[in-house]
Amino acid sequence: MSWIDDKAYQELDRVRKAKEKQVYPYFHAFESGGLHTSIAGKPIVNFSSNDYLGLTTHPLVKEASKKAVDQYACGLSSSRVQATTVAHIELEERLANWMGFEACAIFTTGYQAMVGTLMSLADKDTTLILDNLSHACILDGTFLAAGTPGQAPEVRFFNHNSARSLERCLKSKQRKNAIVLLEGIYSLDGDEANIQELLEVADRYDAPIICDDAHGTGTLGKRGTGIIEKYGLQGRIPIVISTFSKSLGGIGGLLFGNKDVVDHIKHRARSFLFSASLPVPIVAAASTILDMLEKDGETLVGELHDNAHYMRSSLVELGFDLGDSNSHIMPIMCRDERKALFMHLALLESGVHLVPLTYPSVKEGQERLRLNVTRGHTREDLDKTLELLDTFGQAFFVQSGEDVGAFIEPL
Ligand SMILES: Cc1ncc(COP(=O)(O)O)c(C=O)c1O
Repeated sequence: MSWIDDKAYQELDRVRKAKEKQVYPYFHAFESGGLHTSIAGKPIVNFSSNDYLGLTTHPLVKEASKKAVDQYACGLSSSRVQATTVAHIELEERLANWMGFEACAIFTTGYQAMVGTLMSLADKDTTLILDNLSHACILDGTFLAAGTPGQAPEVRFFNHNSARSLERCLKSKQRKNAIVLLEGIYSLDGDEANIQELLEVADRYDAPIICDDAHGTGTLGKRGTGIIEKYGLQGRIPIVISTFSKSLGGIGGLLFGNKDVVDHIKHRARSFLFSASLPVPIVAAASTILDMLEKDGETLVGELHDNAHYMRSSLVELGFDLGDSNSHIMPIMCRDERKALFMHLALLESGVHLVPLTYPSVKEGQERLRLNVTRGHTREDLDKTLELLDTFGQAFFVQSGEDVGAFIEPL
């Protein structure tokens, strides 16, 4: 046994204790794909999926992937530089056109698209300005860039969604160029970027915005192209990063921008150059979902919004606190780790999967269950979940906010 084993053992203390008490909530193994699955033989409705349009299991999507397996197999065994197919290029062109950008590059994950983009653009002449609730891919891209010998950019954080705080960062920046990083919808709180005000400030300081619209693609704007469409900001946000892993049914990262910018990043991003290219069956699945969005995006997005509206108004009526959410991602604030874990367990026993978010994913006192409403949930799924949430929420004092200390042993 080396020090590595000792370190792992010590750092797993909290996980081990949760497993011993049978309240460990992660890595439950699904027995099929989609929003309606099973865990250990028990049917489950999944509200922790990001399959926002419920299209991952659509027969046409599966059919397209199966055909691509026959033509291209499951993997291309190399990176895009020497493993690009006509399917990749066709889809990049179609996506760029759909989104209203000159060019698009398909990475293997959204995480890699962001990390590679930041490492390609940020250098010693750059200040990166991040929202303090930024996703891990923005943080990691920034920290990797900041660790590049001789080229480290300056890094500043602004208070979540605050235009005043962003302005303070821009005013006092020490480097010639600045990049502002935003997300279309923040995935832990389900709130949209305050994009119009932030853009107005960024424009005054000539600071381009990179927007990670992973959760806005397929969900915002009439056609589902994202936050830019929703607020009519075409041509004003030069770079958008997104993913196939939410509304577009698979896995894969997306970079949108002007031709030269995308081309430059394709030749610089180490996460693009040194990682295998996206398998064609996944490209084919995304391409089929894009067909559907192009044909009738308005109906698909409208159906998602109908479900989200129904769930939001019902949850509020039942007395739940949804924090700052104003989208289909709804945190059910428990503000207590035990409440969040016990709610998760009780719901799972009753056939509903809702993942709890606890410290360090969120601050202490901000513990919650995250409920992702999708177009693929039926009214029956929503009603059953509302009834269970109400029952268990009352049992664990979630709606009333009372302390559970006297009733439930500490973990
Ligand atoms: C805001 C945001 N950006 C990027 C990603 C990464 O996407 P992918 O799953 O394609 O790596 C995620 C997924 O968790 C996300 O929530």
